[in-house]
Amino acid sequence: MIRYGADYNPEHWSEEVRREDLKLMAEAGVTMVTAGIYSWAAVEPRPGEYDFGWFDDVMAGLAGAGIQVCLATMTASPPPWLSRLHPEILPVRADGVRLSPGARQQFCPSSPVYRSHAARLVTELATRYAGHPALAMWHVGNEFGCHIRACHCDESAADFRRWLEERYGTLEALNDAWTTTFWSQHYAEWEEILPPRVAPTFPNPAQQLDFHRFSSDALLECFLTEQRVLRRVTPDVPITTNFVGLVQKALDWHTWTPHEDVVSLDSYPDPYDPRAHVEAAFAYDLVRSTKDQPWLLLEQAPSAVNWRSRNSPKPPGAMRLGSWQAIAQGADAVLFFQWRQTSGGAEKFHSAMVPHGGRDTRTFRETSSLGRELARVPELAGTRVRADVALLHDWPSWWGLELDSHPASLEQLETHLAHYAPLFDANVTCDVVHPARDLSRYKLVVVPNLYLLEQAAADNLRAYVDGGGHLLVSYFSGIVDGCDRAYLGGHPAPLRDILGLRVDEFWPLDDSIALDFADGTTGSGTIWAEWIELEGASAVASFGSGELIGRPAITRHEFGDGVAWYAGTRPDLGPLLGRVCAEAGVTPVLEAPPGVQAVVRHGEESAYLILLNHGTEPVTVDLPRPAPDLLTDPSRPVREVRLAPRGVAVLKG
Ligand code: GLA
Repeated sequence: MIRYGADYNPEHWSEEVRREDLKLMAEAGVTMVTAGIYSWAAVEPRPGEYDFGWFDDVMAGLAGAGIQVCLATMTASPPPWLSRLHPEILPVRADGVRLSPGARQQFCPSSPVYRSHAARLVTELATRYAGHPALAMWHVGNEFGCHIRACHCDESAADFRRWLEERYGTLEALNDAWTTTFWSQHYAEWEEILPPRVAPTFPNPAQQLDFHRFSSDALLECFLTEQRVLRRVTPDVPITTNFVGLVQKALDWHTWTPHEDVVSLDSYPDPYDPRAHVEAAFAYDLVRSTKDQPWLLLEQAPSAVNWRSRNSPKPPGAMRLGSWQAIAQGADAVLFFQWRQTSGGAEKFHSAMVPHGGRDTRTFRETSSLGRELARVPELAGTRVRADVALLHDWPSWWGLELDSHPASLEQLETHLAHYAPLFDANVTCDVVHPARDLSRYKLVVVPNLYLLEQAAADNLRAYVDGGGHLLVSYFSGIVDGCDRAYLGGHPAPLRDILGLRVDEFWPLDDSIALDFADGTTGSGTIWAEWIELEGASAVASFGSGELIGRPAITRHEFGDGVAWYAGTRPDLGPLLGRVCAEAGVTPVLEAPPGVQAVVRHGEESAYLILLNHGTEPVTVDLPRPAPDLLTDPSRPVREVRLAPRGVAVLKG
């Protein structure tokens, strides 16, 4: 079963409304709600004084209606009494301002007081609902790092020092790792080390990088504090937490997901952006690849959000299309934020399955219809997406890339999407994986921009190409080690033998530059250029204008049994990737009209081809072999599928 439902905040509503909720949930095909995310103040109105009676009724009602509960641990917004008694739990910004309560997520991740109160509440909750028939899953916290990515208070400073001591062991090792000989930054005592607070100019980059790592770990420790309680009290109940979508810089998902049983993502593509589904697709491939198993779309908007400066509703059909997109890319659940739209509070203009207008609304009709539709395809749950191409993504490299004082500012997600979009448009299914992961199953590995490259990851790439893999690396990759120290001896030092070249200088562009391809065609490059010396590679394209005229721009090198391509500029990536894919034997899922996304979910006995028309025109898609569309007539195989704009088909073959 593909689980279907929403965030449920029962404390907003009277018992009468809650009774109606159960009826409407049945009508809408809701099978799971994630309940109680912001209920802390309602279940513990004063320290140690619990009021769970009303929540018991909610749980009983949901169990009676056959609805599963992904029970929130209620710790995402500590009640006012906690910060009144312990103002030191409030987070402090880099400029020293301590934030006030009155919104949500008002806690310092390193606060022992916050963590112990959270653990106490979770113990109460887990003990009370252990074995409850509605309890299906735990939802720990909520969107860790969404508002508070890091805290710079004195408690965090002490925690940072503890973390650094564990990482480096000695001050000498830390001084070396942080290159503190530079600008007289040598530390003589641990107490001298602080978080990177606002400083006269660029703070030490290695310190900033480690503070990113530490801040992700501090939030992870909050998650683990709760997870340990849950594992002890309810060892058989799976645990998740919802990552902020589309892709979140603050948390290194690769260090988090080993601690989860199932991975969840929240996703809010902007309806005003006609290419928002591509960015969403990237996030879905990434979140799926972190655990290589189905994931949960834990929150999305049924229609408009309230937090952009202009918020468009989702036009008719867009919510269904976006939901099916997540399923196509491996989701086994589609839930919304939220079930019922509140009349007050900061999110009163955020859409809900039951809007202010109630049941007789377009949103309720569309979400109920999707609920009924998903109930018809239970066999999709548990099936897997398979990819021949991997794109490499690494959080420390992202953090390092976007530090200050570089040859030019580069944005990691822009670079990723530039490489991902042509593959997406061609219906080449991608995984998005960690650079040290086993790559042997992929025909092609794409490295859009891996500025920071640990030696182990470089060795992984070498073994991959040596063993016959095809690799495409773009500029400003393999530049620094894990401590943001440039590798010496010519860039990208750890990849030079694989790529067969040496980069002598970076020449970031403020305009485009002409490219002359060896096959006689021409093109242009943008963003970046480099002075490249060939050391075995051959030039596929050379610069055709500017100071670098005649010098290599794009190269190809045979290494071991494989091939390594290098792009020292940003060419038109569609044709380049097309050529690299063809040589690597990578083929699309389907030749489909533009705007149609095609993904296959593989089951043990059947495969399901999911077609999604993101375009604004109706299209006809020819199928490789006759197959029935499970959403229209499962008994009648068809040779072609007609898709309306925003249309979806699920073909079983
Ligand atoms: C996230 C949060 C929800 C809500 C929505 C609004 O999903 O987890 O609590 O704030 O955003 O879009």
